[in-house]
Amino acid sequence: MDFAQAFPLAFGRSGVKLKLLFMGAFLIRIGAAVLVVGLLAGCNGNKNGRNARAPGKLKSAFLRNPNINIPIDPARARAVTYSRVSVNGPYIAMTFDDGPHPVHTPRLLDLLKKRNIRATFYVVGTNAKRYPHILRRMVAEGHEIGNHTVTHKHITKINIEQVRQEVMGAQQAIIAACGVKPRTFRPPGGHTNDRLKVWLYREFGYSTIMWAVDPQDWKRPGPAVVANRIISNTSAGSIILAHDIHAPTIAAMPQALDGLLTRGYRFVTVSQLIALESRGVASTAGL
Ligand code: NI
Repeated sequence: MDFAQAFPLAFGRSGVKLKLLFMGAFLIRIGAAVLVVGLLAGCNGNKNGRNARAPGKLKSAFLRNPNINIPIDPARARAVTYSRVSVNGPYIAMTFDDGPHPVHTPRLLDLLKKRNIRATFYVVGTNAKRYPHILRRMVAEGHEIGNHTVTHKHITKINIEQVRQEVMGAQQAIIAACGVKPRTFRPPGGHTNDRLKVWLYREFGYSTIMWAVDPQDWKRPGPAVVANRIISNTSAGSIILAHDIHAPTIAAMPQALDGLLTRGYRFVTVSQLIALESRGVASTAGL
């Protein structure tokens, strides 16, 4: 492009100098463009480098859970407790306890959304009161919210009226935050007994949801260990335990979720998993 020729009146005698100046500016722009392209290529190179250490990660960035529309039938949750559900298909339920956390939970929700995965969150009542907007986001994005008591007290260590207050209080906090009544209960620390399970079922209609897969993520063994434990221990019908209040757990999720999707597993919520329970098949999960 020759600016001096295009605008001879404006440039006059100093046209040649200006022409050189414009050429210089043009070359600088080309240089900047090459630099930007180079930086972008460098970023891609780094990405590929990371993916080379984590096989399938690049491919898995495009993995998506299919849309699974399973109507919830409250009458179907006949068992007092489940740690896994007998299903005819590769269905599993991912559960996250103790949140929501103001930073980690939204990050997890982003990861789940990207993959079209619905999970179940056993929230603590105090956190539901503190972060109601996160519960509303969970509901808006198709996740299920379960009851995990108000203050995470071990229900085997308090009297039955205190259990009632803990469970009722959490239910009310969840309803106040997002307008949805939880359908299931998970005991803090996993501490419960048959008597309490039956009582919770009769008093609140809650099935007690335990788990089949526990990666012990709260001990922070490292994201890769958490992901590998989840992937290697999951089978059809598994309910998987994790905690959305720990940063390394969130860091483990891309590998864990994509590993499960790659293996053909399909994510549903706990109540959806229960709705898929095979009839006529003896379940060892119920009491
Ligand atoms: Ni807990």
